[in-house]
Amino acid sequence: MSTAKLIYDGKEYELDIVEGSEGERGVDTLKLRKDTGLITLDPGFGNTGSCKSAITFIDGEKGILRYRGYPIEEVATRARFTEVCYLLIYGERPDADQLAKFRRKLTLHTLLHEDMKKFYEGYPPGAHPMSIMAAMMASLSSFYPEDETDLDMNIIRILAKSKTLAAFAFKKSIGQPFIYPRNDLSWPANFLRMMYAVPAEEYEVPKVLEDALNTLLILHADHEQNCSTSTMRMVGSSDADLFASISSAVCALWGPRHGGANQAVIEMLEQIQASGGDCEKFLDKVKSGDPNHRLMGFGHRVYKNFDPRAKLLKTAADSIFDQLGIHDPLLDLAKKMEAIALKDEYFVKRKLYPNVDFYSGIIYRAMGIPTEMFTVMFTLGRLPGWIAHWREMRNDPEGYRIYRPRQIYTGEKERTFEDRGTKAL
Ligand code: CMC
Repeated sequence: MSTAKLIYDGKEYELDIVEGSEGERGVDTLKLRKDTGLITLDPGFGNTGSCKSAITFIDGEKGILRYRGYPIEEVATRARFTEVCYLLIYGERPDADQLAKFRRKLTLHTLLHEDMKKFYEGYPPGAHPMSIMAAMMASLSSFYPEDETDLDMNIIRILAKSKTLAAFAFKKSIGQPFIYPRNDLSWPANFLRMMYAVPAEEYEVPKVLEDALNTLLILHADHEQNCSTSTMRMVGSSDADLFASISSAVCALWGPRHGGANQAVIEMLEQIQASGGDCEKFLDKVKSGDPNHRLMGFGHRVYKNFDPRAKLLKTAADSIFDQLGIHDPLLDLAKKMEAIALKDEYFVKRKLYPNVDFYSGIIYRAMGIPTEMFTVMFTLGRLPGWIAHWREMRNDPEGYRIYRPRQIYTGEKERTFEDRGTKAL
């Protein structure tokens, strides 16, 4: 095993180098504190490996993304979402029999317990669907307590019921009655029908929407140790159950720097359009360095090249718009913005490229999905990834430790808390 040397306080220490299957290398700093008293400091974990994982590989410099070794470009064009769920969670592609059984189980568990419907009544009309999603995910735990001997059952439940939870959240927000799942439909078609059907009429999900959603779900299915997945692992490391861990991951995803960016991109484009469509003027504000004025849907912690998901989505957007026979000026605006940014020195120097959220919102819009539901769509796609990581951690043959980072304390030194008689007030 190769090692790295650290010289500190005149003494030399050897640290093991850990190597991954794609040649990625890391310094194992576990014994650093014991030997030297030092900790590592890396705010935002920009260069910290929190675990070993065999699920997803990203090479951010080359713009490569693979699920269990399979290139995203092949998975996105050749698979259906349910097969990708199985692949990510269980490590290998299912054979025909395994896939059929998995799909069957997913369709048998789509119903929500009728008592859960009452929860929706308590929300105000404008409630953000992500707040409903987070609460509902955690609530599932009270209906389906964890059974260590059958973790797979709750995995099935979460994948099957989440789309019902999401569609009900949408129906609640527009004041329409809930539409129950129909078990003869595919995962995406079942969801879209629960979103768009009304009790008085039959509704057939257009194939173009079913296929578009299938692609979007696959492209969001996993992305290794991002903010929400790390949250999932962190909460799961305390031995919190699957539903509680997922609920925390939903909350982490909601923020506009993470999954909430898809909503923020559309709001940004609408704002630019409403103020005359002047991209350069907007970009000047972005380049002033004001963190409140970022080009949403651009930049990534890991990709310093094109995000392969954004490339696929740009092409998908053109094809979906063609098939739907619609034209959205926001797509033109997004493309114009991308073209200008990719030539601009500010973005070139910082290696800022469009990420997955840049074009996904425009496609959701074309599919008739309201802006506030965009991050819920991301949630539905990311579920298999979160579950796969939670399961990988739980089943790690080397065991797992509770996530508990250290800190460098910068506060006051010890001082006396004088008795000012405030306790009696
Ligand atoms: N617009 C303008 N400047 C940017 C942007 C942006 N979108 N992203 C990064 N920068 C600049 C940043 O100001 C900094 O410049 P300087 O070196 O002069 O201070 C430099 O680029 C490095 O940025 P950073 O904030 O240190 O990078 P990070 O890795 O901490 O943040 C990010 C990554 C995704 C949070 C950030 O790029 C961002 O806020 N992007 C916009 C929000 C977004 O699209 N998020 C979705 C991410 S992809 C999907 C997902 O994770 O859900």
